[in-house]
Amino acid sequence: MTTAPTVAWEERAGLVIVGGGVAGLTAARAAASLGVSPLVLAKGGPTDTATQYAQGGVAVLADDETSVDSHVADTLAAGGGLCDEPAVREILAAGPDAVARAVAAGVVFDRGPDGRLARTREGGHSRRRILHAGGDATGAELQRALLAGVGAGRTGIATSGSVRFGTTVLRVVTEAAGVTGILAHDSRGYGVIHAPAVILATGGLGQLYTSSTNPAGATGDGLALALDAGAAVADLEFVQFHPTVLYVPGAAGAGRRPLVSEAVRGEGARLIDGSGRGVTDGVHPLGDLAPRDVVSRAIHHRMAETGSDHVYLDARHLDGFAERFPTVTASCRAAGIDSRSDLIPVAPAAHYSCGGVVTDTFGRTQVPGLYAAGEVARTGLHGANRLASNSLLEGLVVGERAGTEAAGRAGIRVTVREAGLPHRPVVDRPTLQAAMTAHASVVRDAAGLTVVHRLLESGSVGPRTVHEIEDAALTVAATALVTAASARRESVGCHTRSDGAGPSPAPRRSETVPPSSMTVRLRDGRIEIVQPQLTGAL
Ligand code: SIN
Repeated sequence: MTTAPTVAWEERAGLVIVGGGVAGLTAARAAASLGVSPLVLAKGGPTDTATQYAQGGVAVLADDETSVDSHVADTLAAGGGLCDEPAVREILAAGPDAVARAVAAGVVFDRGPDGRLARTREGGHSRRRILHAGGDATGAELQRALLAGVGAGRTGIATSGSVRFGTTVLRVVTEAAGVTGILAHDSRGYGVIHAPAVILATGGLGQLYTSSTNPAGATGDGLALALDAGAAVADLEFVQFHPTVLYVPGAAGAGRRPLVSEAVRGEGARLIDGSGRGVTDGVHPLGDLAPRDVVSRAIHHRMAETGSDHVYLDARHLDGFAERFPTVTASCRAAGIDSRSDLIPVAPAAHYSCGGVVTDTFGRTQVPGLYAAGEVARTGLHGANRLASNSLLEGLVVGERAGTEAAGRAGIRVTVREAGLPHRPVVDRPTLQAAMTAHASVVRDAAGLTVVHRLLESGSVGPRTVHEIEDAALTVAATALVTAASARRESVGCHTRSDGAGPSPAPRRSETVPPSSMTVRLRDGRIEIVQPQLTGAL
């Protein structure tokens, strides 16, 4: 059921890109290089993206590597056997070219004294293969250079070049032959853009939780738009909790939390509890540099055991910390912490959605004209747990490909015939965040997930305002996530069931959507899992 709002403006575009982070801006650049002028729509301002806050970097071949075999092996191991191996190999192999294009676009990566690109190490990587910029400001540098590349300014909410800020997309409109455009809202009111191709590059869903590294706009919008347009989502139960997010008492629920990059551990910092005991001792051969799911679980269990809501990073012995990690240093200073003399209090927080809209490695969904790239998409690269710094790489590689593919449709003439606001349940955001944090975080069980299901069913029908559109997207994302998390009874990757049957037995991979994926669709207004062996409406 839909309600048609009063449309105040109408436009036409060959390609609409929703989201202005690494994937969206890379797609825009690729389309523009083919002579197609894309329209990039961003909800917030130029730097209100997850890309802006990414610290660690871009994972590509180490200096001494001549093939991606070891990077592939590390990615598959982190992914808990649920990666799509051909997609992994294809995306990682495209990494060096993507980095070369980023450098050509003006991205300045850090270099060593010998002038070669500097590389660090992060969790789950067997080699130092992470490129970085500005020490720990890699995402900010990508955002700066890519924005400049599409002619957009960095300050204010304004229309600049092909990027339009302060615009919320409410619906991707489709007909039998595919996408015909979007319904959006900006300072002029509701409007329609007729367009034959739409790329969703909306980022993640961290705002489902009280504590997240994601910006305020990470409200699962692309998932809701894709489901509404008839595309499938998968692997949403795999929400990656970053192990080391700066802990500040009383700050939960207060928006984005500052990250303490995994590269800090890569350079030798140690994770300890309040009595100085190592947190990951005996847990994994890679210790503090084990894959993130392992480290976050170890911290979760240690916090439960000690009755504390945080542990510590000891970086006091690291030389040149402030120069190597200026962003982390600034966050610590703002919280009154001096990393030279103080332990840094940290706790896990929601960081990355490993699942998303089902696409191939060119960003194509099952809906003609609808593409997805970056965190919102599920290409099969991450499986059950993303390997550190594979995401900016994926944004560069698949963003480029999606922009190129979508540009091929730009000449198709389409018309939006009817664009109504969807009627969806809306659960009040603080209530939803509290329930998701309590019952669908690092460790889950059936009883807790049922509590969230009940809450989701109690949502009032809306949405009526633009803010409620965001809450409705969060509600849809939570419903899809909790549905998949309930159906997956075993623990694997980021999804830990305290009541489950233990880790998955054998790796299962290799189709575009592996049989093990929880493929979720919206049918008759209800979320359901459509894998034959898992069919069951919520
Ligand atoms: C980090 O710097 O620890 C985050 C990098 C990532 O999420 O890949």
